[in-house]
Amino acid sequence: MIASVQVFERAAQLRRELEAHNYAYYVLDAPTVPDAEYDRLFRELEVLEREFPELATPDSPTQRVGGAPMSGLAPVRHAVPMLSIRTETDTTNGGVVAFDTRVRNALGLGPADGPVEYLGELKFDGLAISLRYEHGMLVRAATRGDGETGEDVTHNVRTIRQIPLRLSGRPPALLEVRGEIYMRRDDFERLNARQEQAGEKLFINPRNTAAGAVRQLDPRIAAKRPLSFYAYGLGESGDWSLPPTQSELLDAFAAFGLPVCEHRVVAAGVEGLCEFHDRIAALRDSLPYDIDGVVYKVNRFDLQRELGFVTREPRWAVAHKYPAQEEITELLGIEVQVGRTGALTPVARLKPVFVGGVTVTNATLHNEGEILRKGVLIGDQVIVRRAGDVIPEVVGPVVERRTGSERIFVMPTRCPVCASHVEKAEDEVVARCTGGLFCPAQRKQALLHFAGRRAMDIEGLGDKLVDQLVEAGIVKTPADLYKLGVLALANLQRMAEKSAANLLAAIEKSRHTTLARFIFALGIRNVGEATAKDLARHFGSLDVLMDATPEQLLEVRDVGPVVAQSIAGFFAEAHNREVIEQLRAAGVTWEEGAPAVPATGSASGKVFVLTGTLPTMSRDEAKALIEAHGGKVSGSVSKKTDYVVAGAEAGSKLAKAEELGVAVLDEDGLRRLLEQG
Ligand code: IVH
Repeated sequence: MIASVQVFERAAQLRRELEAHNYAYYVLDAPTVPDAEYDRLFRELEVLEREFPELATPDSPTQRVGGAPMSGLAPVRHAVPMLSIRTETDTTNGGVVAFDTRVRNALGLGPADGPVEYLGELKFDGLAISLRYEHGMLVRAATRGDGETGEDVTHNVRTIRQIPLRLSGRPPALLEVRGEIYMRRDDFERLNARQEQAGEKLFINPRNTAAGAVRQLDPRIAAKRPLSFYAYGLGESGDWSLPPTQSELLDAFAAFGLPVCEHRVVAAGVEGLCEFHDRIAALRDSLPYDIDGVVYKVNRFDLQRELGFVTREPRWAVAHKYPAQEEITELLGIEVQVGRTGALTPVARLKPVFVGGVTVTNATLHNEGEILRKGVLIGDQVIVRRAGDVIPEVVGPVVERRTGSERIFVMPTRCPVCASHVEKAEDEVVARCTGGLFCPAQRKQALLHFAGRRAMDIEGLGDKLVDQLVEAGIVKTPADLYKLGVLALANLQRMAEKSAANLLAAIEKSRHTTLARFIFALGIRNVGEATAKDLARHFGSLDVLMDATPEQLLEVRDVGPVVAQSIAGFFAEAHNREVIEQLRAAGVTWEEGAPAVPATGSASGKVFVLTGTLPTMSRDEAKALIEAHGGKVSGSVSKKTDYVVAGAEAGSKLAKAEELGVAVLDEDGLRRLLEQG
């Protein structure tokens, strides 16, 4: 059957509409229709095209799903070679000055000629691609290859929603667009989360994943990798009367419906470029994709032509790199650290490497499962990443660089500090030392916790001091702190008389506290500050709490079986009871009885989680306010959470709240809720 004029027109209209929605969704990031509506239009077009195959034009949105695999990638000769740009390694402003000087000299400009006009762009960290449009239709996509000859990857590039299959506006008869295919960081994280769930290998970084996807033989695989694209340059352009500048070229690209990065700036001379460089450097970590620097281009094409090329690099452009966020170094060993609750954490010892602006020598590996998942071996060359202020992490091994002498890491079966045996509950990812307070590592952490600001609040009792006190055998339990005298302290290194006196005064001051603080200070596993307050309120006295059965503990608000078990288990240990006795004997006292809390406050019985920075209240103030109204503040979002109070830069807790459908309030909302009662 031949399609009627109406059917033909309907198909054309559907294609136009779908492409417009695609553009709004993928390029402008501003969806114009709900997904369901898009799907309905898409299916209507699919049905029409199945019935009348002559309607299925190569630019139809239905052609993006990926056809049959290829047997190999065909070579594509670039009519205009795809060159690279010179990298300015001097990361200070000196690099900019050198570039500008080269340009001015080559153009014969003197001081009287005023600054050269440049375009500042981002240097995207992906892979270069050439897109050939004939009469506005995408006919071929090719990788850069060696610059002369690349590979035909049209089948995969067609699956990238951001790349128009047909240009809009009035494109020239021939237009070869050059740009970068990349993967956004959030898309990369989601992809890896899916891989992990499916028990598949994790991808190393967005750039390698993007490059791998584009060079797939099977477009169905590429179609499942979320890729993005930015246009930044021109290849062949036939007899198009080119705009006069690079900035106008990019504007023209945008008008054709191609994605062009918003972070581009026309800059006057060295000063303008330096400003751009610094502004983008400050922005770098908050961009949703990786960049490795900025690119400066002489804006006027006539000047570009005049400047020409030296040894296959344009004299009119330069890349100015930022410090790398990923580097390769050797994994010298994996050490195991012991935390307060005995948790064993493997820590990577690295050959020092400069990455993300600092020298990194250690990186956490979290737990044994993480090491297995990442597949790292001791002695491997590993990729280390440090972006922004985030703690450095080992991304994964560079498998190609293995020599065969690498060794598998095994979690020790005995604690590396006290040699007690190590236990790992079946449903837990973390292995733990069973030594308890016998283990010096746990003892140190327990003391630090005991002295913490929210616990007994002993000012000046820090890391170094606790190390010395425990190693010298002077302090074994928190009770020993209250037996310290000037003499014992004077024998410690770096302890001046004045600081010894200050410390003793701080210890003295901590002798009297509240029941809630005292319970929290004990460091019972799973008992945070909020639970400690609940326990104090519920039982009113330490003796009653110490003798509570798990059933009685379960009656406390928000105490579940796991928490009840750790509390009962803690007080069942003779040495824990002994420490408490010693503390009492040393004169430590606390106010028994429940802190006064209105049982029927406006927030009574409600559980709040705070995240981000509130406009006028500190976190402690918000917490105090909620508690004064009978509410409770918890540290993590769960199904039991009633409200999440979110401020600026709220992170994963907000996402979790949205996922679980927990009500989200801002500061005003919180105040209103508490006032309403
Ligand atoms: S222009 C002749 N602009 O960096 C000039 N390249 O060595 C051609 N890149 O692999 C390149 N962002 O893929 C240009 N805004 C940008 C870029 C950019 C990233 C990549 C490009 C190439 C390398 C240049």
